Amino acid sequence: MCYNCGPSRRSFTTLLAAGAGMAALASCSPDTRVAPPTSAPSPSGPQAATPTPTAATTTAVPSGAASEPPSGAPPSKAPPSGVLSQQFSLSDPASQWVIVNKHRPLTPLQFVPADLAQPRVQLAVSGEASLLNSTTAGAAEKLFAAAASAGATMTLASGYRSFQTQTATYNGYVSTRGQASADTASARPGFSEHQTGWAFDIGDGGGACSFEPCFADQPAAVWAKANAYKYGFVVRYPWMLNEITGYYYEPWHLRFIGVEAATDMANRGIGTLEEYFGLEAAPGYP
Ligand code: DAL
Ligand code: ZN
Repeated sequence: MCYNCGPSRRSFTTLLAAGAGMAALASCSPDTRVAPPTSAPSPSGPQAATPTPTAATTTAVPSGAASEPPSGAPPSKAPPSGVLSQQFSLSDPASQWVIVNKHRPLTPLQFVPADLAQPRVQLAVSGEASLLNSTTAGAAEKLFAAAASAGATMTLASGYRSFQTQTATYNGYVSTRGQASADTASARPGFSEHQTGWAFDIGDGGGACSFEPCFADQPAAVWAKANAYKYGFVVRYPWMLNEITGYYYEPWHLRFIGVEAATDMANRGIGTLEEYFGLEAAPGYP
């Protein structure tokens, strides 16, 4: 899928410029050969007051078509059986395949990863924001080292965000630009991948275009877009797929799903987790 094609990015980035500046401040400152049993462990971490889940009910692990589509056909909507050696829950926030979007809040809403750790990478933040879950931290170390070897300086610009931090972040957007605009850039508390520990934002060490659309042209982003899958990561909010993901292009936001699935996605040219796992598009909150 060519998600950098279509209307010029220049016009799009112009459109987004105001919002992106805000992001810098607040965000983001501010199946298988032999299918294993479906894992559905209990969510870990504090079981804080948990609203009854609506959208984030357990979703069976993918069991799509058993064969690749014929050449030229659009990709099927789920990983084909027989391709992936392991499958994971799409609903458990401790699962590397958890899908969090505007239709799928975290369950529990105030989930906290049980294994937060600080990766040994170049940090542009401290405290909570420098943490990831332990699996993602380990993968990030390999990713950052490979980027450095390729000459692309990469920094960890925003990692884990608690429910409380996301509340403050989101409210900052709302107060500055209104709720409709805020919802295109910042997740509501309980709806952010940052709260899972499976996602983080990257910088380039120099602050060039941090959290702005032009970050897509910085070496760290260019390298990540082409190579992150080798380390288990996807660019979660690709160019022009906001009608599926709910968010405009975020070339800085990487999400760990494992090397096998990320490579499969890349090989099949699938841009979003929603399409890959056969889930409905989530352009807005229900
Ligand atoms: N900026 C992403 C969507 C988040 O707030 O999680
Ligand atoms: Zn992010």
